[in-house]
Amino acid sequence: MKYLGLIFLAFFVMLPISAMGADKANTIEELAAMYDSSSCKECHPEIYAQWEQSHHARSLMGVGDGLFMTPLAMKGRTAFSPDSPDKATLDTFPCFKCHLPQAITSASNAFAIDYAKALLAQDKKRIGKLNINCISCHNTKAIIHRLQEGKPEKGVLYGRKVVAEHEDSTYKTVKKSSIFDHAIMCGQCHGLGPNLEFENPVQCATLYGSYEHNYISNGGTKSCQECHMAKIDGKADHLIAPNWNDHEGTKKLLAKNIWFDVQTLGYEWLRKSKDLRPMIVVNTKISHAAGHRIPDG
Ligand code: HEC
Ligand code: HEC
Ligand code: HEC
Ligand code: HEC
Ligand code: HEC
Repeated sequence: MKYLGLIFLAFFVMLPISAMGADKANTIEELAAMYDSSSCKECHPEIYAQWEQSHHARSLMGVGDGLFMTPLAMKGRTAFSPDSPDKATLDTFPCFKCHLPQAITSASNAFAIDYAKALLAQDKKRIGKLNINCISCHNTKAIIHRLQEGKPEKGVLYGRKVVAEHEDSTYKTVKKSSIFDHAIMCGQCHGLGPNLEFENPVQCATLYGSYEHNYISNGGTKSCQECHMAKIDGKADHLIAPNWNDHEGTKKLLAKNIWFDVQTLGYEWLRKSKDLRPMIVVNTKISHAAGHRIPDG
């Protein structure tokens, strides 16, 4: 009886922890709180303001605030869709790999249920709390050789240099990441081609493939960061343009970086005596300054 009591005790103690997913986030609000980056604003105001305008700051909403993962939560709409939102799991949303990497490392299946319900309710206010923020990049995606270097540590940020005593209340150290000035930092999400590791392959961004195979292999030398995060007032620009919702800014960028060269030759063709026909030859060449194909996707 004594042993039975112990077993019951162990069972009751263990159940809630494993059922709730230990230290994993179970709701949108819990994941947002775990990845709260509002404290960064105080000391890195320019970077924070740039990031807020970036697509990374609305990685579940995209252009024009559309909730593009909604079909995944709808019965029968995709191969991943569960019969009801209550049956959603993290596997329902393969998109998390790149659109919300912290869901994979730090959320439970209960979170996926909460998210699926919010999608069906088109709750942009709640879903808008989640994004690719300072901590997603400077912690979650900061190490790629995890077998050798270990996983990103809790409460530590990673950047281009060491800051032994970083003054943030939660993130008290900044360690040096081996990849922050390398294209592969961005390539983790900007895609090589189809993601064949899923039970049903998913293809979204493929730009990193184009960068590797059509830019670097043709003698290109710049990293994504050199073109997209050029320093403003001495600090890496975190807008990481283009911001498609800013039409004026995008127009300027495209006018500067894409060339449309048109040459025309007009002449008359004397088909036969007194039969002059106007003719035109148009030669067009479109070229650009990007380190990869555009548009991508
Ligand atoms: C109280 C002020 C303060 C807060 C809050 C703060 N930082 Fe910093 N941070 C600094 C200072 C100052 C430095 C530069 C230290 C140096 O240059 O020696 C720095 C450096 C960094 C670096 C290293 C920069 C590099 O060159 O690689 C990163 C990354 C960073 N902070 C990210 C963050 C993030 C993310 C947050 C929010 C979670 C944050 N900081 C919150 C003051 C702060
Ligand atoms: C390999 C990483 C990766 C995966 C997996 C992925 N995406 Fe993406 N997705 C991106 C990146 C990076 C961009 C933006 C860059 C680009 O368009 O080149 C993007 C852009 C998009 C856009 C355009 C966003 C906009 O601004 O409107 C949509 C829509 C989208 N993804 C939907 C999905 C859906 C739905 C899934 C899951 C079924 C998914 N993606 C899976 C990386 C990924
Ligand atoms: C954690 C994954 C992730 C990482 C790391 C990442 N991105 Fe993105 N990036 C995305 C996703 C997802 C979007 C699209 C968000 C949306 O609009 O829905 C995006 C959007 C963009 C855009 C806006 C244009 C567009 O088509 O949406 C640019 C430019 C961009 N990223 C460049 C970079 C660069 C440069 C780096 C490296 C410094 C980088 N990204 C790192 C996932 C990532
Ligand atoms: C998409 C990934 C991504 C996101 C999101 C992101 N960073 Fe960065 N950050 C980088 C990369 C990559 C660099 C190094 C760029 C370089 O210098 O080439 C960097 C550099 C920095 C630096 C050093 C800047 C300098 O030039 O001295 C600071 C400080 C910093 N980030 C803070 C932040 C803060 C605060 C946030 C959130 C508001 C944030 N980052 C969000 C990828 C990111
Ligand atoms: C030689 C400079 C250069 C390099 C290197 C470069 N880019 Fe670009 N990128 C551009 C230019 C120029 C554009 C198009 C003009 C614009 O709107 O900014 C662009 C556009 C984009 C877009 C929007 C794509 C679309 O669908 O139109 C994304 C996303 C992006 N780059 C990400 C990256 C990533 C990730 C890397 C590294 C793997 C990278 N870029 C390397 C210059 C560069």
